[in-house]
Amino acid sequence: MKRLVVLISGNGSNLQAILDACARGELNAHVAAVVSNKLDAYGLERARRANVPAIAKPKAKNQERRAYDAELAQLVASYQPDYVVLAGWMRILSSAFLDSFPNRVVNLHPALPETFPGTHAIERAYDAYQRGEIQRTGVMVHLVPDEGVDNGPVLAQESVPISPNDTLEALETRIHQVEHQLLVETIKRLEIGD
Ligand code: GAR
Repeated sequence: MKRLVVLISGNGSNLQAILDACARGELNAHVAAVVSNKLDAYGLERARRANVPAIAKPKAKNQERRAYDAELAQLVASYQPDYVVLAGWMRILSSAFLDSFPNRVVNLHPALPETFPGTHAIERAYDAYQRGEIQRTGVMVHLVPDEGVDNGPVLAQESVPISPNDTLEALETRIHQVEHQLLVETIKRLEIGD
């Protein structure tokens, strides 16, 4: 059984998809802890409801980024994860974190590889569609080798077409549905801890 630590910053709907798949026995994994950099992330509540340790670890204003990342690495490592899953984690991790988990940090991003890195990816894809620049967007799951934003060896991707009568909300809903399923499917295929 794979041990996972899931890092979040907000709602945690993708965390919920993982927790539900574990509870159903569809995913042979155990979420050992959930860590959020935001105190009020709703995903922490989702973790508590699933009896998973829910830890808020915000960066102090005056704390150096690498010092925070090193502390975060220690905290995460104490749960001995096979994989660290970034499910809506909205901080760029430096090598002070990543070096502790080589080839074991997995990120989810609501866009296709090489497109719309960073925040508000769905909204930016929607706007690009309105300008006639793209016909489709998508979802990807990739390994995080370095500080490149939403970039790294792709583990899975799925494209999502956009249609003329899509609202942004409709597109967001569709993308999130694809994410929930693609993230779980991709974690299933990861090898360590199997
Ligand atoms: C998801 O759409 C995820 O792909 C995105 O944040 C959302 C979190 O939703 N991540 C990024 O944009 C990373 N750059 P959730 O908290 O409901 O799982």
